[in-house]
Amino acid sequence: MTKSCLITGITGQDASFLSELLLSKGYAVHGLVRKVTVDRLDSIHHLLSNTNFHLHYGDMATENHLCWLIHSLLPDEIYNLAGQSDVAASFDIPEYTGDVTGLGVTRLLEAVRLFSPKSKVFQASSSEMFGDAPAPQNEFTPLTARSPYAASKIYAHNMVRCYREAYGMFVCAGISFNHESGRRGLNFVTRKISNAVAKIYLGKQDKLVLGNIDAKRDWGYAPDFVRAMWLMMQQDEPDDFVIGTGETHTVEDFLEAAFNYVELDWREYTTYNSPDYTRPSDITCLVADPSKARRVLGWEPRVKFQELVEIMVKSDLKIEASK
Ligand code: NAP
Ligand code: GDD
Repeated sequence: MTKSCLITGITGQDASFLSELLLSKGYAVHGLVRKVTVDRLDSIHHLLSNTNFHLHYGDMATENHLCWLIHSLLPDEIYNLAGQSDVAASFDIPEYTGDVTGLGVTRLLEAVRLFSPKSKVFQASSSEMFGDAPAPQNEFTPLTARSPYAASKIYAHNMVRCYREAYGMFVCAGISFNHESGRRGLNFVTRKISNAVAKIYLGKQDKLVLGNIDAKRDWGYAPDFVRAMWLMMQQDEPDDFVIGTGETHTVEDFLEAAFNYVELDWREYTTYNSPDYTRPSDITCLVADPSKARRVLGWEPRVKFQELVEIMVKSDLKIEASK
């Protein structure tokens, strides 16, 4: 029988890759799209003509419509990928971030509890929840928010456990470390760099201005992460899993590798420690200990740091050269 799923945040990076994966497995994919003035469907444009792919307007900030949608679809699986996902922006809009990224999850879980309690739910939790806890971080690492975004994700993560334990619902969380691709938003540092490298190489940009380049992140490739999400949802029991590569690199490492790809020296083109891109508080070092995902899900990342940088720079060279 055809399985159906609802993916929130359908216009985002992860949802585009997850949709491709689930459509390839024969799912009917329903996506929740937020109504904005001009629709931003670039990342899923290639899926719009697929007869198994359906879009529905809705917003994580309003309960009624979520209830109606879940009641009418009764999806087998629900992947909650919607959220205000920009950590830096969360310092400027903390209340909005809490509403959408935090409370939005409660709205979704209530809608599922009331109208489709047999649906399995995946929640996109984040390594940002670990704050400055010693690395490597795993499922037992204490959660300490260093941003309004992290505080909202911790609240949501706790609600996942509440609904699982109180109501016996299948709700699982993937605690994902940073994952990137050519579809990453330009507001995140990796894509900002890969795009700038392409533009500088093509003579369209002179300078790149960044904040803290000493920060260390465990950067993986988004398609690897959506595979882990699907695997979690195929388990007999719901559980939480850390997903990451187990390697860490500084922003400077990413800069160097990206500029090296086009044989330029990043120091000639980059200004850093700009107050415009420096956060009130930042996380120093994130590194995943993904041993539980490896053991239980049989999950391994296929793409590591150097290949990821090359994929992103190549993608931006192609995009910018065609403009
Ligand atoms: P993304 O590209 O920023 O996508 C976020 C999606 O959420 C977009 O489709 C956005 O729609 C939607 N959205 C925002 N506010 C909404 C609202 N009020 N109602 C409904 N939809 C709304 O994020 P991503 O990188 O794909 O990440 C997916 C999820 O995983 C996010 O929750 C993120 O916080 C979490 N996460 C990501 C990473 C990572 O490294 N990528 C790591 C850990 C956790 P619009 O197009 O309308 O803005
Ligand atoms: N965005 C950005 N822009 N970050 C910069 C810049 C800049 O110009 N300069 C330096 N950085 C540093 C940030 O201070 C941070 O330490 C690091 O680069 C990574 O920033 P982002 O790419 O914005 O990602 P993030 O780690 O804050 O958050 C991402 O990963 C989380 C998982 O750990 C997002 O995808 C979150 O949604 C996700 O939960």
